[in-house]
Amino acid sequence: MDRVIRLGMLGCGTVGGGVATILAREADDITARTGAKLEITRVAVRDPGKDRGPALADSVVTTDPMEVVEAEDVDVVVEVMGGRRPAGDLIRRALELGKPVVTANKELVAHEGAELYAAARAAGVDLAYEAAVAGAIPIIKPMKESLAGDHVQRVVGILNGTTNYILTRMTEEGADYDEVLGDAQALGYAESDPTADVGGHDAAAKCAILASLAFDTTVRQEDVFTAGIESVTATDIRVADRLGYVIKLLGIASVVDDRVGVRVHPAFLPKTHPLAAVRGSYNAVFVQARAAGELMFYGPGAGAEPTGSAVVGDVIDVARNLLQTARGATESQHRPMEIRPIEELTTQYYVLLDVEDRAGVLAQVATVLGDHDVSIAQVWQEGRGDSAQLVLVTHQAREGNLRATVDALDGVSSVRNVASVLRVESEVFGS
Ligand code: NAP
Ligand code: HSE
Repeated sequence: MDRVIRLGMLGCGTVGGGVATILAREADDITARTGAKLEITRVAVRDPGKDRGPALADSVVTTDPMEVVEAEDVDVVVEVMGGRRPAGDLIRRALELGKPVVTANKELVAHEGAELYAAARAAGVDLAYEAAVAGAIPIIKPMKESLAGDHVQRVVGILNGTTNYILTRMTEEGADYDEVLGDAQALGYAESDPTADVGGHDAAAKCAILASLAFDTTVRQEDVFTAGIESVTATDIRVADRLGYVIKLLGIASVVDDRVGVRVHPAFLPKTHPLAAVRGSYNAVFVQARAAGELMFYGPGAGAEPTGSAVVGDVIDVARNLLQTARGATESQHRPMEIRPIEELTTQYYVLLDVEDRAGVLAQVATVLGDHDVSIAQVWQEGRGDSAQLVLVTHQAREGNLRATVDALDGVSSVRNVASVLRVESEVFGS
């Protein structure tokens, strides 16, 4: 065996470190499976003085990522630096040079995927991004290849490890949000800017990528209605529990009337749904397809080695293709589709109101809901006096009507504050 595929890595932080560790530890099996030795010949980082561990020789480290892309001793570029720039320009250059690229960069793919897929197609080389969605879970290949003969109707996912870890600990331990976020950062789950996680943007990027693959179209991150978990409180979690739900940050994509509805937000999810059992930094993607039925893909959604596993799998794939002068399956984006505005969503809602504790308040609130065609399924009071709150759960209602209701409630004198509004997803999810 004397064939060598030479890898140039852009970045060697959490994920890059996992990749280097796996390539070193599993080298013999990887060589046997690939039909060639995979060797890291160059690595670009910002700080060349940082210790990168025993898996990387100091001599391969540089601070110039373009030098790595253009180096003659690099056959495959592995982009694990993150961000849109310079990562996007580096990937384009690699593709132009005919070098296959493996990336974990969901932010870039969710914004510029269509252009990058086209560049890869034009160059006739692979662009692989399994690690960009749901860490270790194989989901890109199943969507692109295994389900290519089916008709995907809906994708629902827990797509962010950091927020699922935070919500799990808040639910199970009553833990404090800020303290748990710090733990998620220390464990390597969070993005360099964790607002991407807690604000729902990281999950929105992944949801856009999945929706594009599911429906053969182009969905970009900005098309995804996005709300994060920052304002989820202990009271919301307690109410959900009492009603038989858990709160999860969900990414939901479906087609309604030939338009794509795609949204990421915290939601009440029945405890009986398979996604409700997904705890900690684990992710899961629930796919409903016409012929296959319901599928669930489950596993670690973040972290060095889980994500490294997906990157190395892609590297082996593109290396095998390189050896055979072949290329893998490409994306089909043949169906241009409009995005369905969130106002047209129909689902149930949970609304928590800080109210005055006196007779007639419930009647005032009920009138406002009735005026906006929002019907109440359940209502009760929590607390007394200054801490009185009304908990409302609606029947199916239109999001636009619910929003108008909330605006109107803000103007009701006995309602001191609209404390929480969360969507309640039933087993079949809103449409
Ligand atoms: P990270 O720990 O911050 O690592 C980024 C690496 O890129 C570092 O080695 C950094 O150098 C290097 N870098 C950044 N900008 C650079 C520049 N302009 N020139 C040269 N080197 C540069 O990030 P990460 O968590 O590994 O994430 C990497 C990518 O994987 C991101 O796209 C992320 O969204 C994605 N991802 C992450 C996870 C996860 O669990 N962390 C899971 C799935 C996907 P220094 O080390 O010198 O700072
Ligand atoms: N920050 C991301 C998460 C990493 O928490 O899921 C995996 O993409």
